[in-house]
Amino acid sequence: MSGGPNKAIYGEITRLVPIHIGGLTFDVPDDIPLIRAFQYIQFELGRMTCDWSRFCFNDTIGCCAFEFRAPDAEAPDWGRACCQRVVPGLVVHTLPKSSVMLDERGEPLREIPAAPPPPKPGKRARPPREELP
Ligand code: FES
Repeated sequence: MSGGPNKAIYGEITRLVPIHIGGLTFDVPDDIPLIRAFQYIQFELGRMTCDWSRFCFNDTIGCCAFEFRAPDAEAPDWGRACCQRVVPGLVVHTLPKSSVMLDERGEPLREIPAAPPPPKPGKRARPPREELP
């Protein structure tokens, strides 16, 4: 796609990794803030639309709240897309406000397809928030 923002907003892209938005899978730059990955999906892949002028991009007003499941977690959690970094296999359940997924023709998707199932019991769960560095 052309006409998007300066690609420097993504930082140095070392590799692309898959993340899931519901049942849709997108390869995005690894270890960047998820809000930048959403912009990558919009401007580089043409599969999302969002009014980014509504976002602070700096974790001050909670404008980018979204529900997600880390790859090793058994249950979803809420976070801020400007704080959560991309990891392979991250599952996004709900998008920040005003974000809309698009199909391959650029038409809005009314519903996001179902997300992949959570990991089988016995896999390591994400540590409680207090234990995170
Ligand atoms: S972009 Fe505003 S809190 Fe994340």
